[in-house]
Formats: sequence, C-alpha cells, structure tokens
Amino acid sequence: MAHHTDVFDLSELAGIVKNRYGVDLSHYRSTCLYRRVLHRMAMASCEDIEEYIGRLTTDSDEMEKLMDIVTIHVTEFFRDRDVFGLLERGYVPALVAEKETSGHGIVRSWSAGCATGEEAYSMAMMIDRAVSRVSPNMHIEVYGTDVSEDSCRTARKGVYSNEKIKGLPADLRDGYFEKEGRSWKVTSRLRSLVRFRPHDLFTMSPYSHLDLIMCRNVLIHFEHEVRDEIIMNFFGSLQDRGLLVLGKSEALSGPLEDLFELLEPRCKIYRKKLKEDHTRED
Ligand SMILES: C[S@@+](CC[C@H](N)C(=O)[O-])C[C@H]1O[C@@H](n2cnc3c(N)ncnc32)[C@H](O)[C@@H]1O
Repeated sequence: MAHHTDVFDLSELAGIVKNRYGVDLSHYRSTCLYRRVLHRMAMASCEDIEEYIGRLTTDSDEMEKLMDIVTIHVTEFFRDRDVFGLLERGYVPALVAEKETSGHGIVRSWSAGCATGEEAYSMAMMIDRAVSRVSPNMHIEVYGTDVSEDSCRTARKGVYSNEKIKGLPADLRDGYFEKEGRSWKVTSRLRSLVRFRPHDLFTMSPYSHLDLIMCRNVLIHFEHEVRDEIIMNFFGSLQDRGLLVLGKSEALSGPLEDLFELLEPRCKIYRKKLKEDHTRED
C-alpha cells in the first residue's frame, strides 16, 4: 500500500465523483487537486487512497467535505470593492443609459460559479441602483449558477449571517435585507431579480444575449485548455460589446485576447468586440 505522501492514482476517486455529482475532476488543476485530497485524507485519518475511497463510499459527510474543498465556495458580497467600484461608477450606468437610449428594456447578467449567491445578489443590487436612477421601468434579470446544488439551495434561501453582512454599507443593507432572527434575509424584491440554478461550466452555456458575465475565482481551479472552452461559451452568450469580468488573477490569453478588449487590466474587465472588429484585426 502506498503511503499517502506518495503520488497516488486519483482515477477511481474521480470516477466516484463523476458518478455521484457529474463533476469531471480531470478538468481541475491536478496539483491543487492532490493537495486537497491529501488534506481530506489527513483529516479523515486515512493512511492511503484505497482507505480513503472506502471511507467515501460509506460516509456521505466525508463525500460532501471532499466536494467542498475541491470546489471551494469562499465568497463575499461585493468581493473586490475596486472591481465593483469601476462597474458601479462607470460601466453599468453607461450600459443602462445605452439601453435607455436604444429602447432596450432589459439588462441581463450572469454570475457563473456564484457559490452561495453573494456575487449574484451584489450584481443585482448594483444594477438595480443604476436602473432606478435612469430608467425605473427597465427589467433586470440576474442568473446565478454553480456546479454545487447545495450552494444553489443556500443562495436561493438568501439568508446570511451578521458576519457576512457587516461589510455592506448601511444603505444597501437596509434597502435590500431584512433582519430574520440573528441573520439577514434578502428582501423579496431583491430575491425576485435573481434566479439560481445548478450548472456545470463544462456544459453548454444556458444563456444568451447577456450584457454582463462575472466568472471570478472559478477558472483558476481548471486546467488551461478547458478554461478557453469556457471563455468561448461566454463569448457566445454575450451580446455584442457585452462585459466579461474575471477574477484578478485570471486573464485571457492567446487567440481569445483578440475577441475581447481589455478595459481594466488590473480588475480584468473585458468587453466583447464586435464581429467586424476582431475579423478586421486578423
Ligand atoms: C471561490 S468560489 C467563487 C465565488 C464567486 N464567483 C466569487 O468570486 O466570490 C468558486 C465556485 O466555483 C464553483 N465551481 C467549481 N467548479 C465548477 C464547475 N465546473 N461549474 C460551475 N461552477 C463551479 C464552486 O462550486 C464554487 O462555488
């Protein structure tokens, strides 16, 4: 039996995860994956991968813990204030004004890999504030998706601890949340702007004609080749000149850079180019 610090084969474990959750671990960066599985093995006091696989098949709690650590659900409201600041002060009001002028009555956006919903609700608050200033009748649709059904369920409930809410400015907290016992619940109006559903980014995008996609701190977990496929899906889901926001340590590379204009290099805000723009540069 190999000791758990030796290199071990993850294919059996990957098969179990694929069967149970439909998640294909071969797309995830293998060094991170090994590190996380080793960590769970140590926490579960398993000496080797065979023993750990045995545990997984009998202990559904351990299975959930493994999935949690593999897909990491860390998030917060308005995570990276500077990114939201740029969107809030410039790009989103401009988008809403453009819609108003052209008579388009809807803003559509997607938080892809939304974890427990904080990013999707942040987008909804930001867009709602911009819309209410310019065009109160404009319709807002925000989609939040995640591969984890558990996270989607939590997001749908929209109930967050004091700890989660405490960083929010008072006007946002009081305008979009209600006290529920010791927690805070999103108001029914904010809730009505956002739809959550499970979705694996390795499958076809469920949306089209989007104005804004945020996919942050998700792609970093994947192997490079599959990241590009996901970006191509986003490209197809965006309106011409729609915005794509990646995590600060994520960036487009290679031919994909020709499809988008990099508006904010530090905050990784991109704009989908018009077809004639990227064909002209070729
Ligand atoms: C660190 S969280 C990012 C949350 C949010 N975007 C943010 O930046 O605060 C990463 C999320 O990606 C999700 N994820 C991992 N693999 C995925 C996949 N194949 N398809 C969709 N979501 C995935 C995880 O479940 C997790 O909730």
